[in-house]
Amino acid sequence: MNGPDRGELLRAPLFHTPRNPFLEDHALESHWDGGLLIRDGRIAACGDFETIRGANPGATITDLRGGFLIPGLIDTHIHFPQLRVIGGLGRTLLDWLEECALPEEARMADESYARQIAERFVHALASHGTTTALVFGAHFSAATAELFEAGAKAGLRIVSGMVLSDRQLRPELHQTPEAAYRDSRDLIRSFHGRGRLLYAVTPRFALSTSEPMLEVCQTLRRENEGVRFQTHLNENSREIEQVARLFPWASDYLAVYERFGLGGHGAVMAHNVRPAASEIERLAAGGTAIAHCPSSNAALGSGLFAMKRHIQAGVRVSLGTDVGGGTGFGILKEALQAYLLQRIAPDGVLLHAAHMLYLATRAGAEALALDEDIGDFHPGKAADIVYIKPPADSPLSAVLERTETPEEVLAAIFTLADAESIHHVRVEGSIVYG
Ligand code: GUN
Ligand code: ZN
Repeated sequence: MNGPDRGELLRAPLFHTPRNPFLEDHALESHWDGGLLIRDGRIAACGDFETIRGANPGATITDLRGGFLIPGLIDTHIHFPQLRVIGGLGRTLLDWLEECALPEEARMADESYARQIAERFVHALASHGTTTALVFGAHFSAATAELFEAGAKAGLRIVSGMVLSDRQLRPELHQTPEAAYRDSRDLIRSFHGRGRLLYAVTPRFALSTSEPMLEVCQTLRRENEGVRFQTHLNENSREIEQVARLFPWASDYLAVYERFGLGGHGAVMAHNVRPAASEIERLAAGGTAIAHCPSSNAALGSGLFAMKRHIQAGVRVSLGTDVGGGTGFGILKEALQAYLLQRIAPDGVLLHAAHMLYLATRAGAEALALDEDIGDFHPGKAADIVYIKPPADSPLSAVLERTETPEEVLAAIFTLADAESIHHVRVEGSIVYG
């Protein structure tokens, strides 16, 4: 039996980024004959298998050689009600919202429909190796509650909130600021800090939120310690022009949110494809993170992300799949997409495997202010783990037979691993998928 104090020792090659490779050399740590000791749901030791076994003779050994261990993947921008509109190609943001996303989001008024989608949504996260996600909920309180319930049942870390809007969308998706306040407050009481769940105040974007609604967001954050914040920023040129018209007093898009104190560490804004220089500086100074969503940026023709300007200024950058503007649930694929687009972007950053792993894991934890608890295998952190095992006859297994260095192995995984390669997934040591 696996005694609670003795722990379980996983044996497999392992990779993690306990440091930021954009700032430090040697940020990637790897152990070819790796050992990961899990005790009471936490990482008790990470390193060389024989060393850890020697120091922990009572641990139960699980031999996972033939596959690879990485920390749980973290998606910092995704929309739960958009699961079924993935693939609406050929449009730009505002047309896509009107023709694809918003009609489906309106269906979330039906709670039993929302429950079905929520269950499929959290299953899709887990089956792609995502253990933590910052999720746009629905415009409806009951549907957003269904997402939290489904996340809790699946054992995932879900940070989410009801999406707030009071203009420009369609009437059935609008709430009054008063109703938005009341419903959000009730959801916070029910779900914020319950198990692995956290609440995020979620105005859809400046275009669909009036000043009184943004004031409600400010109040909700002031009144509720530790709630996170998420929204969209500078995604599309037509959107940006309209925001400028609606908020003539604002010097730029970010200034709209700043007026209401909506930023800082634990706030995540998606896209920022078209930033002004001063916006980048203010994001860095305030600690607001940008969820970079390369698949979505390409699919909706939003543009190329200026990663170098963000990183050099010190902005926190993490990854988001942006389902359903994006192309699927895979954060590994999203990291590859970031790599590909940076290769062709003017002044792009050459991302190495260490950067990709960091963006897919620890960067997300930092963006969400959860890096004390998750993001890498540092002892004391939660044992959120993805076990990657390529199917026997897959191209990935063929490539891995000849790769030699940790960087080559990881690069092959990011290039070729899809959901079929995700063998099992753990959160706090417990299997949540596989
Ligand atoms: N801006 C406002 N809403 C959305 C959305 O659902 N998807 C994307 N990509 N951008 C948005
Ligand atoms: Zn989005």
